[in-house]
Amino acid sequence: MAELEYDGFTPEEAAVINRLDRSRLPRHLAVIMDGNGRWATQRSLPRVLGHHAGVETVRFMITACHSLGIPYLTLYSFSTENWKRPEAEVQALMALIEGQLRNELVTMDRKGVYVRHLGRREGLPDSLLQTLDDCEAQTRHNTALTLSFAINYSGRAELLDAVKRLARAGHDAASLTEEDITGAMYLPAHPDPDLVIRTAGEMRMSNFMLWEAAYAEFWSTPAFWPEFRAPQLLAALEEYLRRTRKYGGVTS
Ligand code: FPP
Repeated sequence: MAELEYDGFTPEEAAVINRLDRSRLPRHLAVIMDGNGRWATQRSLPRVLGHHAGVETVRFMITACHSLGIPYLTLYSFSTENWKRPEAEVQALMALIEGQLRNELVTMDRKGVYVRHLGRREGLPDSLLQTLDDCEAQTRHNTALTLSFAINYSGRAELLDAVKRLARAGHDAASLTEEDITGAMYLPAHPDPDLVIRTAGEMRMSNFMLWEAAYAEFWSTPAFWPEFRAPQLLAALEEYLRRTRKYGGVTS
């Protein structure tokens, strides 16, 4: 097969990618970005600078998934539990996310990225909601990569909202199916995540895509989110390709 080059990767990394079975890469990669605060604290910097450094990794991941042909990327950017953080950090995070979305919109659109919001709207600043709506409206015809930002998101809140939606629609409990619940999720048309990556050495799901990630493979790295780059991503993908996914069945 021809040796291909990949945007965002060195020639050596591209050689690793060219040895992978690219037809079996995850369709949907979901990421629990963790360790921005610890990265900053280790360097005697304010925590917020860790989030700023984390934006570079977000950029890397968008470029990397785009060039690898991974069609869905979901990033856990702000959980419903994150409101418990100091107000200044919450405000800084909201402003950072909004500013980045505004700055990168044209580039993302040009690359064919469809930008979506995953989460509850209530509680988010109006200006951020407007930015998310603008991103979604401008990029909705793009098909290269669907990039979802989980903001004000938790898996339990999503399930609760789905149950409420079904109840409001008058669904009969006795005939309810798993497909009905999937259909009532925030982004029902997206395939389930195949691989969940978490940084900073943590091994928890932390209320992330509890319904959708039921059969996802999980991979964790000690690297803090601002340190996560091609070596970690390629290690995750190589490990993913070594796993046998059985979905509760047996391998033949
Ligand atoms: C986790 O680190 C990180 C977050 C909760 C926020 C992630 C947000 C960004 C990287 C910026 C996102 C930018 C866009 C465009 C979405 P932590 O603060 O929990 O780290 P700690 O566990 O070490 O304290």
